[in-house]
Amino acid sequence: MSENTRSDQLAAGVGSETLTFDGGHRPVLEARHLVKHFSVRGNGIISLKDQVLHAVDDVSLNLYPGEVSGLVGESGCGKSTLTRMLSMLEQPTSGEVLLRGERVHAKRGRAFREYVGNVQMVLQDPFGSFNPLQTIQRHIERVIRIHENGAKGTAAQERLAEVLTEVSLTPPQQFAEKYPHELSGGQRQRASIARALAARPQVLLADEPVSSLDVSIRLGILNLLGRLASELNVALLYVTHDIATARYFAKNTSVMYAGQLIESGSSEDVTQNAKHPYTQLLLSSAPDPDRPADRKRIEAIGQPPSLITPPSGCRFHPRCPFAMEKCKTTPPPRFDVGSGQWARCWLYEGSPELSADAVEAPSAANATASAAASETPAVSTPPAAPES
Ligand SMILES: Nc1ncnc2c1ncn2[C@@H]1O[C@H](COP(=O)(O)OP(=O)(O)OP(=O)(O)O)[C@@H](O)[C@H]1O
Ligand code: SF4
Ligand SMILES: [Mg+2]
Repeated sequence: MSENTRSDQLAAGVGSETLTFDGGHRPVLEARHLVKHFSVRGNGIISLKDQVLHAVDDVSLNLYPGEVSGLVGESGCGKSTLTRMLSMLEQPTSGEVLLRGERVHAKRGRAFREYVGNVQMVLQDPFGSFNPLQTIQRHIERVIRIHENGAKGTAAQERLAEVLTEVSLTPPQQFAEKYPHELSGGQRQRASIARALAARPQVLLADEPVSSLDVSIRLGILNLLGRLASELNVALLYVTHDIATARYFAKNTSVMYAGQLIESGSSEDVTQNAKHPYTQLLLSSAPDPDRPADRKRIEAIGQPPSLITPPSGCRFHPRCPFAMEKCKTTPPPRFDVGSGQWARCWLYEGSPELSADAVEAPSAANATASAAASETPAVSTPPAAPES
């Protein structure tokens, strides 16, 4: 569909439900109500029947050109599964992905190659994604050939030098001739970013791009990714366990828990004024040498729930010190808590409900009753009351 046709439709209000704008800023990639359920074999203890693992449940997310968006959550909450669905490496059980407003149906063949060119992954372990027997040049030239109409010779050489220079692997010829094992971890991650850039993507999905690297070089790689997103106008999803780096690096941050997004907003708001008790918990357990007492709190907060039998109602309720009766039975919708920030938590009932994925809510809530009943010590202060 042409830009004009789409603008006309918008002006007429046609199809506006399927388009999302943020202050006139149009998303390049949209996830709508993505669900991924895996069938897993029973272990013979509880059941021999196949069971369903709810890895991702009803996740909607927008990525914007030139912006870094953070996706944070603890291990096993579904971050990589969501990222793999966005990259089309994993087919959703339901829901849809839109690239520049167009629904994506790329499962194989040319459409898949085109999509992969537009939406590139940067992985945690670049070594595993390189063939040890091939030089960096061979790896990158293959991508250039596929995505630049079979470019060869001088044109391919120039493009190779360009992408290596973009990631500061200079002089480029020297790095082009290396084999993956001849590079340091940081250089290898730069080479893998160069290979992703060779496809001229509109979106980069970076799944824990620095967690396998030495702490001393992480910042350099994050700065590189941030600069490239801004200079090349690429939308960047930064997936991490580390909410502290999301604050530093991402413009917006979404927090994932047990397969669902539970809070989202500007990184500043989400990290400095977290509303959801789980986000507060993540922040309180983030390593901070000035707060040694936090370490105890991490041990005291319990384990993430089973995704085969996720808790009823709010999935965080077994660990939440503010849990109310209704939290155990009724999943909270997204409540707007101001400045574009929202939280999926009954404590904010009374704030405007975001309609896109809201569930039907019962009429009354008592935000304070029974909140203290939980035995689980977790966050140090209750969330601030919602602004009316
Ligand atoms: N192919 C699969 N088959 C069955 N279960 C899977 C599959 N892939 C992922 N899972 C399960 O889905 C859940 C989410 O996994 P995922 O890798 O997305 O989590 P994550 O948030 O990326 O974790 P981490 O931070 O450790 O990388 C986990 O329980 C995982 O075991
Ligand atoms: S107060 Fe209720 S809805 Fe909010 S996080 Fe706790 S258990 Fe979930
Ligand atoms: Mg992962």
